[in-house]
Amino acid sequence: MTSDGFDRQELIRQAVAARERAYAPYSNYKVGAALLGKSGRVYTGCNVENAVYPLCTCAERTAVVKAVSEGEREFAALAVVTENGGSPCGSCRQTLREFGQDIIVLIADITGACRETTVAELLPGSFSVEDLRRETR
Ligand code: THU
Repeated sequence: MTSDGFDRQELIRQAVAARERAYAPYSNYKVGAALLGKSGRVYTGCNVENAVYPLCTCAERTAVVKAVSEGEREFAALAVVTENGGSPCGSCRQTLREFGQDIIVLIADITGACRETTVAELLPGSFSVEDLRRETR
């Protein structure tokens, strides 16, 4: 357990396990995610591809959709694991940003090497609900 209250290695371990469930017959690029809700519950996700390529769903978005559909909307951290430490795509960054800029993002490879960042760092100057509500000048 670290000072900010969650076990990074355990979250990465859950993302590694989720990655094993990836359905990626077209890209062969398996991705696993583990999203820690502020309730303490963890929601895992993997990428789910489709023969109609644009229908592929990323691991991170799988995890977010699982969490929100289970009633959780506040998140502390996300771990994402790929073979080579690949970075979350723009769509996943925006999907995470909807639920907070302070979410910690652990980007790891399968050896456990990890880079720690935040949604705010990954998506500076992002569009959000605040932009929708801002009055025009
Ligand atoms: N992928 C993810 O799951 N997350 C990302 O952030 C980037 C890409 C998946 C989508 C597709 O199944 C495969 O990786 C190759 O793009």
